[in-house]
Amino acid sequence: MAHQDWQRLFLQAKQWTKEAGESIRKSMGDTFEVHTKAHQHDLVTDVDRQTEAFYKDKIRESYPNHRIMGEEGLGDDVKDLVGTVWIIDPIDGTVNFVHQQCYFAISLGIFHEGIGMVGIVYDVMADEMFTAVKGQGAFLNEEALPVLPKVSLEESILSFNVGWVLKDRRLETLVEKSRAVRSYGAAALEIAYVACGRLDAYISFNLAPWDIAGGSVILQEVQGQATNYKGKELTFLGKDTLLAANPHIYKEVIREIHE
Ligand code: IPD
Ligand code: CA
Ligand code: CA
Repeated sequence: MAHQDWQRLFLQAKQWTKEAGESIRKSMGDTFEVHTKAHQHDLVTDVDRQTEAFYKDKIRESYPNHRIMGEEGLGDDVKDLVGTVWIIDPIDGTVNFVHQQCYFAISLGIFHEGIGMVGIVYDVMADEMFTAVKGQGAFLNEEALPVLPKVSLEESILSFNVGWVLKDRRLETLVEKSRAVRSYGAAALEIAYVACGRLDAYISFNLAPWDIAGGSVILQEVQGQATNYKGKELTFLGKDTLLAANPHIYKEVIREIHE
């Protein structure tokens, strides 16, 4: 696709995301069905499914040749990233959506022949939309995000779930060496927070492509780094660990957890 076509597709995806967010906000006062999926930490509501269905209908109508990898399984059974693939998490942070009614996001990554071309992470309740088109910088709403500044581990704010510390005690070193550790419960948003400097690194041991696709495109535009926990390239095809970080502490974080 030519440059202007990516721009058109991006503006359309942004518009759909605004509409989807509006509809999620409207649903906040309603009672919705909540189901557990794999375990008690893994929830889905009818709003998650309706949001994915909304994107599916729009994409099928405008881009019938594109494929869809969506968390709720309404799209295609995607096993490779050939052609153009929309990687969608209709609500990232469903536990927050259900319990706290804030700190959840729509996450969208559009990949072409395996390369992340468009990233959108929309914090629905804060009305903060993080976006990027490959090679054109990252934005928070209409404001361009600067390239990530120099930061040291001692002055950094990290984010990971307390459960991961129980699984890998080496993370305790990072708790001690950093300024503070936070946990927001919405991976896509936490990657976007690394991109805008609110966090300096985010670590998870078990994420799916839809949790990381949108955020990783945005992070790349501010020279942030995203790999798995061992420093290997992400494939966006199956579950993996994640380290998304400011480039100035990325190597030190890897060293701390692997030494
Ligand atoms: C979850 C959130 C959470 C992360 C989980 C994800 P979901 O996504 O991003 O922060 O720890 O691994 O599955 O289920 O709310 O879309
Ligand atoms: Ca998710
Ligand atoms: Ca989800």
